[in-house]
Amino acid sequence: MAETTPAAPPTPVVTFDSQVTNPSGSQAPGDQYIFFAANAKPGDKWGEDPAMNLVKLTDFSVSAPLANSQLMPPEANNPAGVKVIAPGGAPVVATGLLGCNRSGDDKKYADMATFRITNPAVTSFSIWVLDSTTKVRANVNEGLAIRVNGCAPVAPCATVKTDSANEFSKFTITGASISDVFTVAVLSSDGNGAHRTLAGLTFSVIPDPSMAGKKFPVIEQQGWNDLNKNAKKDVYEDPYQPVEKRVENLLKQMTLEEKLGQLNQLVTGDRKNDQALFPLMRRGEVSSYIWGRGVPADRNQFQRIAVQESRLGIPILFGMDIIHGATTLFPIALGLSCSFDPELLERAQTVAARETRAEGVEWVFAPMCDLARDPRWGRVAETCGEDPYLSSLCNAAQVRGFQGTNPAAPDRVAACLKHYVGYSAVTGGRDYNDSEITEWTLRNAHLPSFDAGVKAGALTIMSSFNAIDGIPAAANHHAMTEILRDEWKFKGFVVSDWLAVEQLVNWGYAKDKADAARLAINAGNDMDMKSEAYVPNLAAEIKAGRVSLATVDEAVRRVLRVKFQVGLFERPYVDESAYKAAQKKPEDIALARECVTKSTVLLKNTGILPLSKELKKIALIGPVGDDHREILGCWTGRTSWSKPTLASALKEALPTDATLTVVKGCAINTVPTTKTLQDGKIVPDESVPPTDADLKIDEAVAAAKDADVVIMAVGETKGFTGENASRAFLTLTGNQQALFDAVAATGKPVVTIVFSGRPLALPEVWEKSAAVFYAWQPGGEAGSGLADLLLGNVAPSARLSMSVPRHVGQVPIYYNYYNTGRPRSGQYRDMKDMDAKFWFGYGLTYTTFEYSPVKITPAANGKSAEATVTITNTGKREGIEVPQLYIRQLVCHEGARPKQELRGFKRVKLQPGEKADLSFPLTGDVLGYIDRKGNPRVDAGDYEIWIAPSAHAGTPAAFNLTPRD
Ligand code: BGC
Repeated sequence: MAETTPAAPPTPVVTFDSQVTNPSGSQAPGDQYIFFAANAKPGDKWGEDPAMNLVKLTDFSVSAPLANSQLMPPEANNPAGVKVIAPGGAPVVATGLLGCNRSGDDKKYADMATFRITNPAVTSFSIWVLDSTTKVRANVNEGLAIRVNGCAPVAPCATVKTDSANEFSKFTITGASISDVFTVAVLSSDGNGAHRTLAGLTFSVIPDPSMAGKKFPVIEQQGWNDLNKNAKKDVYEDPYQPVEKRVENLLKQMTLEEKLGQLNQLVTGDRKNDQALFPLMRRGEVSSYIWGRGVPADRNQFQRIAVQESRLGIPILFGMDIIHGATTLFPIALGLSCSFDPELLERAQTVAARETRAEGVEWVFAPMCDLARDPRWGRVAETCGEDPYLSSLCNAAQVRGFQGTNPAAPDRVAACLKHYVGYSAVTGGRDYNDSEITEWTLRNAHLPSFDAGVKAGALTIMSSFNAIDGIPAAANHHAMTEILRDEWKFKGFVVSDWLAVEQLVNWGYAKDKADAARLAINAGNDMDMKSEAYVPNLAAEIKAGRVSLATVDEAVRRVLRVKFQVGLFERPYVDESAYKAAQKKPEDIALARECVTKSTVLLKNTGILPLSKELKKIALIGPVGDDHREILGCWTGRTSWSKPTLASALKEALPTDATLTVVKGCAINTVPTTKTLQDGKIVPDESVPPTDADLKIDEAVAAAKDADVVIMAVGETKGFTGENASRAFLTLTGNQQALFDAVAATGKPVVTIVFSGRPLALPEVWEKSAAVFYAWQPGGEAGSGLADLLLGNVAPSARLSMSVPRHVGQVPIYYNYYNTGRPRSGQYRDMKDMDAKFWFGYGLTYTTFEYSPVKITPAANGKSAEATVTITNTGKREGIEVPQLYIRQLVCHEGARPKQELRGFKRVKLQPGEKADLSFPLTGDVLGYIDRKGNPRVDAGDYEIWIAPSAHAGTPAAFNLTPRD
């Protein structure tokens, strides 16, 4: 995550020269003119016609369609087309119709054409606009303007008005950069007029010495790209050659500097620094960017420099944190995993992949395979919960969603399993800490989800921030080489986490950046994210014999392989015009809504839910009720504000005769009041009341008293979740507890919806609410999905993927703990109940189910043994039950095994009274474990088998696995 907020780039200055003249009259030798064509569309490249013989003719391009414009048929004297006047060439003849608009009589600007500079060396230029309106109809045009970067054509935007007609107006733009977008806008006041405007463009190039006299050869050939510009099809340029051959062919052509460049990932965001990056790209020193910017045209511009202007034309790989959605925002992974429906995660990430790739990002830093056992750690939100089996299935599904069967497809991206490994076990739940993990726990708890991701074909992995056994992850040879490459045969590349290579120095594990670079690459960390430790140091390390060239070659191979696999060598550029259509389609919104209904866990229901139609007066109380941001979650992709809120969606969903009163009651968080203890620790200071401008508990109480039912929308602020957001308290943030207590004291039935990125310990909420939904951070469709559940249009079916503790003092807490030598001892003296409040797997719905005892059918005739249960819907409505298969191996000499381990589950829909017999095979996979050397093993012997509605529920059946089985 970026550590600094990039400064906003300065806005270019636009001035208008009122002394309008025809530009042909003022044409200076060396000027170049481009005229917009009536049929201009995004992606059009002008001037690439070699016949034009200009120095560089791709300096401007159209990046948006002619919005609000209606193209005019060409006239006899204005045939549509583009005319470029070569330096010192013939006088300008305007031959293109830019467009016309029908902007109505409400005096508004209509955009005629949008363009941007595509040559970083161009920082000032002039634009000539011919207002030809009066040719068609008098008195309709009021002015012309240049809009800069999407501003409205009024102050503070650069806007210049001219009453000229049939004349060229000249705007001069200075301080421009390639990221700026300029729009020619026309202001008109006559709704009937067909306004025609011609625009011509002239610019002057401020010379870039490194580009002097350069000609750009045509890269695109029939079916391949001449990336090294040698006019012949090299093996690496030939899409029909196998990837491995292409990698080797390219590797052979690379200098050491170019090789190290392929291991270097930088970050952009700060446009001011763009110019500084271009020479690096030209030298082939940048392999990848973390691309938080979003603008496909910008991205193409960067790519153009790498492809067109570097020696070998190796395309840049653009990566981004797309965690639970890009434009369409889904529930956080912790929520989605509560669906116990891996296919749902696959579908969600399929949408995210399409939206992301359309933007020109072909690599996402997801899924997160860390195991969530400690809710103090803010990043549990990004995980698929505490269980290795569920997490493995959900993460493999996410990989399939991102990558599909062909990650090169225009709607797929490369996945990145993170954070490798043991990041979630940080001491005290404090982010970035060390993790004490034994090999046994590593193999059986933390690694399986990564293993599953690798088996699903994930192309990349990110090493983590934590240390294990004193060794920080970016230098962990055991994890990255012995396990990942030697045992698992992983062929993709490992990227470090943000600055993690450099931070080996902070850990006290490396002496300086050069030492850090050596340790990381030798351990198997191929790409350096942001530290810039490899490029300046590894050549000297190789020279000194501390790093071998073979090690660097291997790392480069892995990076190139992925670039080939995502199709970058064939399609280095993204189609800018396709971006919009790939975002948030109606079916994506429907899927996001479905995800909310399948991720929200019903923890308690005294019978108030689903809400009866008789309840006419509903009060929605709490800071999340009408909030546009908190519902979205900790990684908000490209969407930071949700139009629908719970309040707006409920209003729409409720019967017309019902009333909804919305009261915020208090802020989701207050400015944290802290005090510093003697040992330097900073802790919340309860003695100082936090300030809260929204605090209106009386108003909330009054609304509650007047209501038939209260819905409370409370939780923790999203700012307390995700990275660098550990918590010492698992409480509601700000004054929400006081708000809840006061509302609950009215005696009105309260349905509480908890919005949170982690399980919170909320004893009063559990006790005093008539019903509780745990909604996590549900994303953009929170409102509609929750309305579906509240009103019973959809019945809840989610199950906790992470146990909810009674108190923070219990954590880390997870269902698959050991029996220990003294199972009944070791209790807390000051806390009666050792159990979690709600265990993993728990969740209710609007009907009830009954489970028969588990029946074991022994193995016979080559068929494995099976565990079977009969489940009956004993309630009054259709429902989905999620039976879970748990196993326990009673004796294991390799190492004691947990008291219960999930090894299967199903989602079954049953009508009232309907029964289903459900069987789970008891194969080696189901019963086995991983030994300390990484081998899967299954032991003959005694097991216990449960099929139950949650962990620590139901009665086990005994099962003996004989060697024959
Ligand atoms: C986070 C990663 C993330 C990376 C890039 C790091 O700080 O730990 O999860 O992918 O930044 O944004």
